Amino acid sequence: MADLPPDRIVELGTGFWGAKVLLSAVELGVFSTLAKGPLDGETLRARLGVHPRSARDFFDALVALGMLGRERDRYTNTPETDLFLDRAKPSYMGGLLEMLNFRLYGFWGSLTEALRTGQPQNEAKSGGGNLFDALYSDPARLRLFLQAMTGVSLGAARAMAQKFPWKNYRTFIDIGAAQGGLPVQVALAHPHLTGGGFDLPVVGPIFGEYVASFGLADRLRFQPGDFFTDPLPRADVLVMGHILHDWDLDEKRTLLRKAHTALDTGGALIVYEAIIDDDRRRNAFGLLMSLNMLIETRGGFDYTGADCAGWMREVGFRETSVVHLVGNDSMVVGIK
Ligand SMILES: C[S@@+](CC[C@H](N)C(=O)[O-])C[C@H]1O[C@@H](n2cnc3c(N)ncnc32)[C@H](O)[C@@H]1O
Repeated sequence: MADLPPDRIVELGTGFWGAKVLLSAVELGVFSTLAKGPLDGETLRARLGVHPRSARDFFDALVALGMLGRERDRYTNTPETDLFLDRAKPSYMGGLLEMLNFRLYGFWGSLTEALRTGQPQNEAKSGGGNLFDALYSDPARLRLFLQAMTGVSLGAARAMAQKFPWKNYRTFIDIGAAQGGLPVQVALAHPHLTGGGFDLPVVGPIFGEYVASFGLADRLRFQPGDFFTDPLPRADVLVMGHILHDWDLDEKRTLLRKAHTALDTGGALIVYEAIIDDDRRRNAFGLLMSLNMLIETRGGFDYTGADCAGWMREVGFRETSVVHLVGNDSMVVGIK
């Protein structure tokens, strides 16, 4: 037998074990509890209401996975988990992990069925609507999803605030802005900009609350609307983050055409998400995200930078470029 260890296969096959330990830790409040100070295992166990049988394995697994520290029998958050997974901090991005835990962890169990049938496996499986009809019929799920989006987009939003030439523009609108994670980061970094977010009316109060918590309510306004039935708002720059991948190719083209119509000559459209590398072999996260769109939507899929730039040129953008943002995320910029 070749001297080839099967470790990578085993590691990938059991990957959901580590993922679920992290998701359960967020659900149980491990990081929010330890944000108040280090605790010994027994005190932490009792505070969380965890059974004695596996508490030590659970906490030490989190240590081994790099999500907790342990010093002289006392558990601590790492600097990273303290910043991002303590519910009491504005930097909390656990909404994403909460959504993964409550929704997608279960739905992904039906991936094989999705691959065989091409049909979504989320709430829409039992009802007729799209992902957003299903999510937004329950106010708690709506809030969780919108907060999760801020977690997904925070890194890309900060990178975009630095990497796009905002000084050349005065106004911007994030189309499908969710809680407003991106407009907040861009407005914080560029005090000369005004703009806001366009999204379904039900999102308005949650956007308003988040923007106000950064003291930006005078510069960032919410514009309610439906991007398929209403015209898109006019601005120097329009942004679409994690929008196009929710929809099929005709719907993607419709949204790009509407953005082109809403811009003046010289205006810019920025499309950003986990843009797949043109060779479709390196950005595993982007490819897995596309499979997530199979689970979540009727026709959505992720795409390469070359795909997106091609669609942009088809609807009339004269210049396009693909710029890496951070990690798996890139932006495709189209200039009218
Ligand atoms: C996947 S989220 C992306 C949020 C945000 N842009 C980001 O990247 O973090 C998609 C957003 O599109 C919005 N949306 C869905 N259908 C819409 C429609 N028909 N008109 C306007 N917004 C819509 C949703 O409410 C949601 O905020």
